[in-house]
Amino acid sequence: MRLVIAIDGPAASGKGTLSQKIAAHYGLKHLDTGLSYRAVAKALLDKGLTLDDEDIAAQTAKAVDLGAMKREELAVHAIGEAASKIAVMPRVRQALVEKQREFASLAGGAVLDGRDIGTVVCPDAPVKLYVSASPEVRAKRRFHEILARGNEADEAQILADIKVRDERDMGRSDSPLKPAKDAHLLDTSKMTIEAAFEAAKNIIDVVAIKN
Ligand code: CDP
Ligand code: CDP
Repeated sequence: MRLVIAIDGPAASGKGTLSQKIAAHYGLKHLDTGLSYRAVAKALLDKGLTLDDEDIAAQTAKAVDLGAMKREELAVHAIGEAASKIAVMPRVRQALVEKQREFASLAGGAVLDGRDIGTVVCPDAPVKLYVSASPEVRAKRRFHEILARGNEADEAQILADIKVRDERDMGRSDSPLKPAKDAHLLDTSKMTIEAAFEAAKNIIDVVAIKN
């Protein structure tokens, strides 16, 4: 069967890790759509261009190659911040959503993760998960992630940044972050990665058997 799995959630909720595990388990391709917004932001920052011009940002979005995006190059904090700023622009979203839908329609099925997959990019996906966790838990996860890479971090600052990002992503008028009406909610605040994966598998298997 052609299974499309839509996974949404705020920053550091664990959706990326979960998506990778699900894609590997079910033999599906995976697209981290956050990278496409990051790729636009990086291209603008690299060229010293403003983040406020929708014409320039939309042109840049049209040129994004989903196959060439690498998380290592795009994982910088400033790029994430800039990404959430250009992500409020409807024409940037339109250009990227078109590419994301093409990816989702590939033979064999796919897992896509982001902010608007279940609501906008793949509203007909048979499985939708909305992954959440409290801001405090998410800040702690990011904090440990940075320490594990051997870098220094300020947990209180990370928490403040996460709250600002949540507000921007949930408050924008075009495609705000919110659970689709038919999404399964997965609060991972008290869950290990393995426990979240088991819970997701239980939801997906029911749909996979029905189809
Ligand atoms: O993709 P997203 O920003 O939603 O989050 P992620 O990159 O998958 O996860 C952020 C960090 O939280 C990673 O270091 C994960 O290993 C960790 N994590 C965790 O400790 N427990 C979970 N249940 C999920 C993620
Ligand atoms: O890794 P993290 O969850 O921090 O962020 P990301 O998934 O890489 O996404 C960066 C930013 O892109 C988000 O804060 C959103 O503003 C935007 N984004 C979006 O608007 N729609 C998506 N489908 C994915 C990301």
